[in-house]
Amino acid sequence: MRLILLGAPASGKGTQAAVLCEQFGVPKISTGDMLRAAIADGTELGKQAAGLMSEGKLVPDQVVIGLVKQRLSQPDAKNGFILDGFPRTVPQADALAGALESLGTPLDKVVQIDVSRDLLEERATLRRTDKRTGHIYHLKYSPPPLDAELEHRADDQAETVKKRLDQYDAMTAALLPHYDKLGLLRRVDGVGSPKEITARILAALSN
Ligand code: AP5
Repeated sequence: MRLILLGAPASGKGTQAAVLCEQFGVPKISTGDMLRAAIADGTELGKQAAGLMSEGKLVPDQVVIGLVKQRLSQPDAKNGFILDGFPRTVPQADALAGALESLGTPLDKVVQIDVSRDLLEERATLRRTDKRTGHIYHLKYSPPPLDAELEHRADDQAETVKKRLDQYDAMTAALLPHYDKLGLLRRVDGVGSPKEITARILAALSN
């Protein structure tokens, strides 16, 4: 399975990617996770990305394209992958298409998870992640266990969330007509329990 999960910030891409990767036995490739790991490691890339991310801006295309190309060339991605948070611009989508063509591994599908803006803001601002396991919780919809070591993402503050949603509308929404023209796009309603959304994605993948 070679799949892109598209959707606005906090639409549930990471939550669904975790379940689908387990089900299909393929790795999750999340540029957001890679960039947060670089920030935690204090690398040059992390220093460059931190300011942009905390302001809700996108990291330059060439930076994330380089990260993804390198990741796709690793052995565990040979039999498939789920991309979460990449591509986010048309130049990123074009670079991905070129990389997959040279590897001889075309995309199977692109699934967009649709959620309304007011719900996205609530999902982002009340999201918490367990530092030790990376598991994604929500204070209202998916409460963490008492022993979780919770982290509140710097870019999940209300003002930054609004900027990220604006960036999505300005840059990433253009990918919908792009993948629709290629016949790869499927859209699912992202409102419901996470299990219901998984079932909708699996149904969308089979047609
Ligand atoms: P990234 O980490 O990719 O963030 P994002 O796309 O904004 O997506 P999120 O991680 O916020 O949300 P999600 O859709 O994964 O939702 P989740 O499952 O966590 O990127 C962060 C930053 O890095 C960017 O702003 C940018 O600066 C930079 N960056 C990354 N990739 C880049 C790229 N390609 N190009 C340039 N810059 C890049 O769910 C959210 C919450 O909702 C959770 O609390 C969850 O528990 C809850 N939830 C999930 N499903 C449901 C449900 N069905 N019902 C109720 N609650 C739910």
